[in-house]
Amino acid sequence: MKQQYNQILASPKPFVKWAGGKRQLIPILNENLPESFGTYFEPFLGGGALLFHMLIERSGQKCSISDLNSDLVLAYTTVRDRVESLISSLKNHEKNYQKDSKLYYYSIRESNPRSQIEKTSRLIFLNRTCFNGLYRVNSKGKFNVPLGKYSNPNIVNEDNLRSVSRVLQSSKTSIQCCDFEAVLRDAKKGDLVYFDPPYQPVSNTANFTSYTNKDFTYDDLGRLADLCTDLDLKGCKVLLSNSNSKEVADMFSSKPWKINKIRANRSINSNSQKRTGHFELLIRNY
Ligand SMILES: C[S@@+](CC[C@H](N)C(=O)[O-])C[C@H]1O[C@@H](n2cnc3c(N)ncnc32)[C@H](O)[C@@H]1O
Repeated sequence: MKQQYNQILASPKPFVKWAGGKRQLIPILNENLPESFGTYFEPFLGGGALLFHMLIERSGQKCSISDLNSDLVLAYTTVRDRVESLISSLKNHEKNYQKDSKLYYYSIRESNPRSQIEKTSRLIFLNRTCFNGLYRVNSKGKFNVPLGKYSNPNIVNEDNLRSVSRVLQSSKTSIQCCDFEAVLRDAKKGDLVYFDPPYQPVSNTANFTSYTNKDFTYDDLGRLADLCTDLDLKGCKVLLSNSNSKEVADMFSSKPWKINKIRANRSINSNSQKRTGHFELLIRNY
């Protein structure tokens, strides 16, 4: 499969930049995957860095992906089902952006399109041109990130969109918009669940959690810890990423959890000087 991609299409990679995206951590995540498993579940999908790695490396792998952000989930199904119309719409955004980037960016940020294509091309356009590629909404669910400083942003990555479309069509991947707890209903013994939730803040200034209009709270972390226990009892393999915080370490201090402290680079801090390596936790039950 990998060889086929190299010959025909570029390897698919995340088509949105996403805060907390795992692209840089793929080698270490890969080392921590179990040798064999049934269906792969990713219930906090975001940009899906590990999903794309999985789809390239494991031909025929069955996957079940989901996220609570309905615009993001719509974007995955649009890329899968209507990629050529999406590319045309993005080219239109690109043309208008080149005429007056500031005026055009804020007019699109204010807009509220109804059609599937326009909704998804708006999401990708804003993601490519906003500050730091950040996705953040206010309590009413309105996208509120300012224009980024780019001289020539890559608004339409046609090759990658087509590769993503192709792999999502050809693979056995189901896509849903739902809360992470739904995974308990579907996952069976021997399946692998990778959780990459919004991280627990490690300091008061590091509380980026607004991927949806509902923040991910300490109670949600508690729900997640209970769910991990239930999945473990069901015989599922569970892998979880989170910040190097005491709350997280305490919730997973008992058997069967093994906690690994890994070095990671974060690029969401607005001050590039502060985007240095730090540690985060990788927790698993196998
Ligand atoms: C850290 S990001 C995932 C990043 C992803 N692993 C990547 O490589 O891009 C966390 C994701 O969880 C989603 N999310 C937040 N609360 C959720 C919930 N209650 N249930 C499911 N997904 C949720 C957010 O919309 C966001 O996309």
